[in-house]
Amino acid sequence: MCGIVGFTGSADALPVLVNGLKRLEYRGYDSAGIAAFDSGSIRVVKTRGRISELEHKLRQTPDFSASCGIGHTRWATHGEPTDENSHPHLSADGKIAVVHNGIIENYADIKARLIKRGYTFVSETDTEVIAHLLDFYYKGDILTALCKVMATVRGSYALGVLCADRPDEIIAARLDSPLIVGLGDGENFIASDIPAFLSHTRDYYTVDDGEIVCLSKDSVTVYNSDLEEIEKERLTVNWSVEAAEKGGYEHFMLKEIHEQPKAVRDTVSPRLENGKIFLDTDIPLELLSELSRIHIIACGSAYHTGIVAKYVIESLARIPVECDLASEFRYRKPIISKNDLCIVISQSGETADTLAAMREAKKHGVRTLAIINVVGSTIAREADHVLYTWAGPEIAVATTKAYSTQLAMLYLLAVKLASARGLISDEEERVLALDISHLSEKIESVISQINTLSYFASKFHNHKDIFFLGRGVDYAAGLEGSLKLKEISYIRSEAYAAGELKHGTIALIQNDTLVVAIATQAELAEKMVSNIREVKARGACVLTIASEATRDMLADVSDCLFAVPDCYSKFSPSLSVVAMQLFSYYIAVARGCSVDKPRNLAKSVTVE
Ligand code: F6R
Repeated sequence: MCGIVGFTGSADALPVLVNGLKRLEYRGYDSAGIAAFDSGSIRVVKTRGRISELEHKLRQTPDFSASCGIGHTRWATHGEPTDENSHPHLSADGKIAVVHNGIIENYADIKARLIKRGYTFVSETDTEVIAHLLDFYYKGDILTALCKVMATVRGSYALGVLCADRPDEIIAARLDSPLIVGLGDGENFIASDIPAFLSHTRDYYTVDDGEIVCLSKDSVTVYNSDLEEIEKERLTVNWSVEAAEKGGYEHFMLKEIHEQPKAVRDTVSPRLENGKIFLDTDIPLELLSELSRIHIIACGSAYHTGIVAKYVIESLARIPVECDLASEFRYRKPIISKNDLCIVISQSGETADTLAAMREAKKHGVRTLAIINVVGSTIAREADHVLYTWAGPEIAVATTKAYSTQLAMLYLLAVKLASARGLISDEEERVLALDISHLSEKIESVISQINTLSYFASKFHNHKDIFFLGRGVDYAAGLEGSLKLKEISYIRSEAYAAGELKHGTIALIQNDTLVVAIATQAELAEKMVSNIREVKARGACVLTIASEATRDMLADVSDCLFAVPDCYSKFSPSLSVVAMQLFSYYIAVARGCSVDKPRNLAKSVTVE
């Protein structure tokens, strides 16, 4: 999704803005641009394509010098990636420049009205209406004009604005799109995410919906929507610049796969004491014991952790769990009662559908618990209770360590629910908690077999279709394995519940189709043997991901086999998915794909 950065200070703004944009590249983009004050007037340089092309254009304007400006990486929504559609957008007289992340839903209406009043548009974007609307409302006070724009537009936005009448100042505002303010010494920043300014300062404010910020090099003033000044809490980033760098790995994804043992340990160990689980949230224990239903809401990989959690929670805590895609939940008129709990899972804490679904749930008076990685993100702030996953910054678009920490957090919650409801003894809680705490070293052991997984990838990287089959939590793990593969290698791939195959999909199996069979659970291994025989009888080649417990049963029927260590069988996705992450990673590398920034994808999906 689009990235915004803004800088005002004494230094040369152009390299600060360009480097800030580079730190936001992980969000996904197809064009880039900057606007900055040069001798009191606003100058814009922008281009479709990569930031290197923007740098090339900037080298062609050596006289461009500025100490305050805004920058943008665009992920196309309205209009193709072209120079004209790139941000920043200017008012007709060139006195107002705008960068925007989000979508203006009523832009067509506003555009038609502005055209009637004589405004001319040069792009197909929704953002350009903001530049012209600001011009329309501007009567000498840009803050008042911005308030009027905010009252007129519908949709979501994080905005960075320059106004020629207020040189060396940046005006910013947000609604439902991430925006933070970096607080430096004699310099200040706006950004969509912390890495954009982390090499300059660790101190920041979060900007809440409806707030407007005015930044000069020496001051930051925050206003509410009535333009009354408000106080903000100063926050400090507790991770380093290095944590957001590749550290010698070829890709962020590979680095983040290797960081999983630590991320899971950091998420689990502070919550365990003498074999008991302590959840660092003020959610009352009686509430956990009296729940009538749990709704899990998330998107993409986070949703896949929810499906694993459904199996684990229902089996251990005997509470019905409904797991919904956030984009479906928000419009399907869900049936929610006050005794339910709504668990919202998100790495970024900014995903538009997840946020909207949580707000929808809150309208029903249900309590919300968010499992979030980014501290202080919008979902974390708006949920009734938060449990943080301590994965650290995740840069690769395809999630790995955030997924693993979400799973670990959900296992802790499932065991806690089971004990709060009196369904397991203290001793059983201790055994399960110990099993969760051992997952990090078992993940390490999967990663140590990286050469075997890269060998399998070298054998299978030319396949056109790959199916993932499993039962129970292995099916849920297969959904994630399949998503990892398709998003980074562009190989068509689907995951199916193994028992469902013969109800249609088996028609697709033919000579040499690759089937990844996930069969880690001893209690279901025999059934998986039959499913493997069914696909082999139709010519499939089968790579099985087994556990030590199931290895012997599956070795003879499989063409190749990879075994993960044993654990409580419902926690095995924590291990099998790591094997599938590495398998997918090496397939993508072998196919020459852009692993960290796959085509068409964005890290943080902040538009609907
Ligand atoms: C896939 C992936 C996405 C995210 C999804 C939700 O590798 O990363 O499917 O899981 O976009 O994002 P968050 O967790 O930030 O809400």
